Parts: sequence; structure tokens; C-alpha cells
Amino acid sequence: MSTFQAPKGTYDLLPPDSATYLAVREAIAAPLRGAGYGYIETPGFENVELFARGVGESTDIVTKEMYAFETKGGDRLALRPEGTASVLRAALEANLHKAGNLPVKLWYSGSYYRYERPQKGRYRHFSQVGAEAIGAEDPALDAELIILADQAYRSLGLRNFRILLNSLGDRECRPVYRAALQDFLRGLDLDEETLRRAEINPLRVLDDKREAVQKQLTGAPLLRDYLCDACKAYHEEVRELIGAAGVAFEDDTKLVRGLDYYTRTTFEFVHDGLGAQSAVGGGGRYDGLSEMIGGPELPSVGWALGVDRTVLALEAEGVELALPATTSVYAVPLGEEARRVLFAKVTELRKVGVSTDFCFGSKGMKAAMKSANRSGARYALLLGERDLAENVVQLKDMESGEQTALGLDEVVAELESRLG
Ligand code: HAM
Repeated sequence: MSTFQAPKGTYDLLPPDSATYLAVREAIAAPLRGAGYGYIETPGFENVELFARGVGESTDIVTKEMYAFETKGGDRLALRPEGTASVLRAALEANLHKAGNLPVKLWYSGSYYRYERPQKGRYRHFSQVGAEAIGAEDPALDAELIILADQAYRSLGLRNFRILLNSLGDRECRPVYRAALQDFLRGLDLDEETLRRAEINPLRVLDDKREAVQKQLTGAPLLRDYLCDACKAYHEEVRELIGAAGVAFEDDTKLVRGLDYYTRTTFEFVHDGLGAQSAVGGGGRYDGLSEMIGGPELPSVGWALGVDRTVLALEAEGVELALPATTSVYAVPLGEEARRVLFAKVTELRKVGVSTDFCFGSKGMKAAMKSANRSGARYALLLGERDLAENVVQLKDMESGEQTALGLDEVVAELESRLG
């Protein structure tokens, strides 16, 4: 072990487990690519003000969890705690919304940073794949995103996840509800911090995990009863479309998300095998965010799925992804001249698309064959002095153990046709 360890709340992705992470990212991205979402990448840090305004001054993410710092040049930056504000900032900056093709549909994959108390499933550096559809108010768009996430999870073989769905209302009806909820909360016996939260962000109090608080909340006014007709109709249509697609969901009138930009449709994907950190993904509509960060009115909707927690969910369900071995051919030279000749063949094989590895260093035959086995390769190529003299190479089928001699000049074409 070296003197250094990964920082608290972080971990390294190492082979062979790292292959699962890549496969999860790929599985989430595939349905998005197939639905017209284009790939976007934004910087790992942004002006801190973007998140303060976008995610919300009163959220835990901004007040407690942001890695904010001042650069030597005096800029106030923060490592990105989430992707939505950055993606919208980038879309606005590049005027993607003015190209006359709304919604702008984007997907992304990357690292995010939150200074949280680490525990299983909760890290300070984690990974999301996300999607944002910018500039359209259409229940079918909300439904599309939920259906695509469901498809992604199912393609991975996940079954024990649930979709929680709610509507948070809009700028018409939410303030009325907010006031009613505040009135209710003021009459409760709450600690000072919670009372303060009730003044700044009363909806978040509904999300309080403490049982004593939850008990007092029975009888609290429900947002459902305050939705305006437009929000009600919109939500009904979203529910209708998801249901028609055969995607099961649960109405959760108490679902509040930890970010302030949400309006109308909000949802969370929870997995029942994960304990406290059960949200494997979440998202919703954020019709006001663009204006909050200085842009025009651009109603939008999106989600982000947590890669780390999705991998944990796979483990919890005992799902093993069928990941094909990355190496098809493993080449073992015996002797100096054989080394040179075989190394050249390895390069040729790779050029024609056959994934090939080579036995590096000076290993004996036994150790070399052990490495060939470990590589998962379908075939081993063995080249010794006598083979060289006869201009052949031995092709060993690693499954059957069968070995055949092939002309050195034919081997690339032969393996290409068998594996390419
Ligand atoms: P979020 O719910 O904060 O939403 O994060 C989405 C997912 O990221 C969570 O469900 C979880 O799986 C994962 N995640 C969050 N924090 C951590 C952590 N500390 N450790 C491990 N995984 C974590 C957003 O970030 C919104 N930007 C989603 C969105 C996109 N809304 C609209 N568009």
C-alpha cells in the first residue's frame, strides 16, 4: 500500500468490477441515443452562483454540500453537484434553443461532487447519466423520459425498482399551497431549525425523515388538493401516457425533491434493496429554471440516474451482467525471434478488429498459459522455435483444448473470419 488513500467518501473503480459500471452507463445511454438525445459534456466546475440560483439557496446541496472555492484569479467556482443547471447554462450560451428545433434533447454522463456524510450508496464523488429536454411543455415529453429510464433499468435486468410520481404545481398554484402548508407547520411543535426551514422551504419539511416529525404531519394539506386545473390536466395526461406504455408507477403526493427548480411533474426511481439511500434516480420538470439563471422562458424536463446506486441495485438483486471477455486472442511467444514475429501478428490482428493481448515479460510456459486463461480469450496463439522454422503458429481453442497448426501468413485472416 502507498502512503496515500482515496479521499473520504470516494472509491476507485477497478477491473474487473469497473466493466459493470461501463455497461451500466452504456445501458442508460442506449435508449436515450435511440430517442433523439444528443451527447453533451460540460466542465466539472461552474460559477458557484449558477448552482446557488439554479439548485436553490436554501437546499442542502447548496448550503452544506457544495465544494466551492476561489481560484487564484479570484473566480468563485464550485465543483458541479448536479448536471441540470450546467446543461441548461451551456444550451443557453450556445443558443441551442434558437435553432428552431425545440425541444433540445441532450444526454450526459459524468462525475458529480457533494460534500455529504458518506455511507453505503452515498459518496462525495459519484456518477450520473442524465437527460434533459429543453424548451417544450408537452406531457408526452415527461412520459418519454420516464419510459426511457424504465427501459434502461429493465434492459439491465433490474426488477425491484419502483417509480414514484408527483406533481409540484406551477407558479399559479404552488404559492397558494405553500402558504397553506406554512400555516399548518407554524401550528406544530417543531424544533427551531425545522421551523426555520418551514419559513424558507416548507415543502422540504414534508420530506423530514424523523418519525416524530412525520407523525405531526398527518393531516397536513396535500399539494394534490391545491393543483390548478391546468396542472391537474397536465399531470393526468402524463399518468395516462405512462400507464398506456405499460410502465407501472405509484402516486406519491409527498414526494419532494432536494432541488428547488422543480415544477409540475416530479419523479423518483427507488430500489427496495438499497436501505436508506434507496433513490437510484430522479428528475422532473423545471419550467422556471431558465429564467432563474437569466435565460428566456424555456419549460423543460429531465432526469439523472445514479450509476453507483444502479450498480448496487444490480448486486442487491443478484443480477450478473453478461459481459463478454474483452480479449479474444492471447498470444504466447517462446523465444526471442518468436517474440518479434508474434508481436507483429498481434498488431495486425488488432488492426483488423480482433481484440488481442500479448504475453509480456519473461514468463515460463505454465505462467503464460495461466495468463491466457485469466484473460478470458477464446484462442491462444503459441509460437515456438520449431513453429518458426516451419512457418506455422499453433492455434489453441481455450474451450476444447484442441490445438491446430496454421500457416503464419493465414492466421490473421483465419482469426478475423472466426471472430471479426
Ligand atoms: P438528484 O436526485 O439529486 O437529482 O440525483 C440523481 C441521482 O444521483 C440520485 O437518485 C442518486 O442515484 C444519485 N446521487 C445523488 N447524490 C448521490 C451521492 N452523494 N452518492 C451517490 N449517488 C448519488 C439531480 O441531480 C437532478 N439534476 C436530476 C434532474 C435532471 N432533474 C432534472 N433533470
